[in-house]
Amino acid sequence: MIRVVDIHKTFTVKDKKTRKNKIIDAVKGISFQVKPGEIYGLLGPNGAGKSTTLRMIAGLMEPQRGSIEVFGYDTKTSSEKVRGNLGFLSTDLGVYGRFSPRELLRIFGEFQGVDAAVAERRGMYLLDKLDLTSFADVKMESFSSGQKQKVSIARALLHDPRAVLFDEPTTGLDVLTAKTVLDLLKIMKEEERAVIVSTHVLPMVEQLCDRVGIIFNGKLHGDASPKEILAQYGVTTLDEVFFKLAADGGEV
Ligand SMILES: Nc1ncnc2c1ncn2[C@@H]1O[C@H](COP(=O)(O)OP(=O)(O)OP(=O)(O)O)[C@@H](O)[C@H]1O
Ligand SMILES: [Mg+2]
Repeated sequence: MIRVVDIHKTFTVKDKKTRKNKIIDAVKGISFQVKPGEIYGLLGPNGAGKSTTLRMIAGLMEPQRGSIEVFGYDTKTSSEKVRGNLGFLSTDLGVYGRFSPRELLRIFGEFQGVDAAVAERRGMYLLDKLDLTSFADVKMESFSSGQKQKVSIARALLHDPRAVLFDEPTTGLDVLTAKTVLDLLKIMKEEERAVIVSTHVLPMVEQLCDRVGIIFNGKLHGDASPKEILAQYGVTTLDEVFFKLAADGGEV
């Protein structure tokens, strides 16, 4: 179970021209829960606070207020336990060109404290599921962006995490590769993992996600099944929910 309770995050950035500090209220009191076996879709326009929310759940950034628990571990007080139980695919891929996928996964497995033989087996299983086996021993410097994305996905799942956070997993992928990734997410669901996926691909959300939360102006809207959200807003597509939220400044 992933439990997010009333989290807040404010950033201070400097305006180079006016030399004044600008406050960005990225997340203004968001709460939601994701159960094992559930795929939660986190939506919202660019700059809404999706990645910030995922980073806080992954324990990479602390909320100023509120609390987050991942399978009973608090991100503030037990961040190492949280990281051990959580796989995070971020949008900056962290793939090192001079390694092959097999080497990278071996190193990452060691870093995560996974037994070498187990890491090898699970790494090769994941590469197979991602259709990348024939590139397992090729240096990644020659990889396309989609191939790098697949390696990052394998890396995020290598230590068999019970919670899975994927930030825009299909961005830049062709439809076939995107399907491979979505199929893997479905396997994660069947394996009773708690999955959060942030995306801009709304039709995918409608067919993949059990529940959906839409971040708009730092607040969470929806937090229900895609069907329930469409009924709630009286529309037929999630696109229209976005347009309604934008028209009403997130006050729907
Ligand atoms: N490290 C940071 N320092 C300062 N501001 C930040 C930082 N990270 C995020 N922000 C700001 O917080 C807001 C939310 O950013 P975030 O990356 O969470 O958005 P997002 O919903 O993931 O958007 P996108 O769909 O474009 O990926 C933005 O206004 C962004 O500029
Ligand atoms: Mg983002």
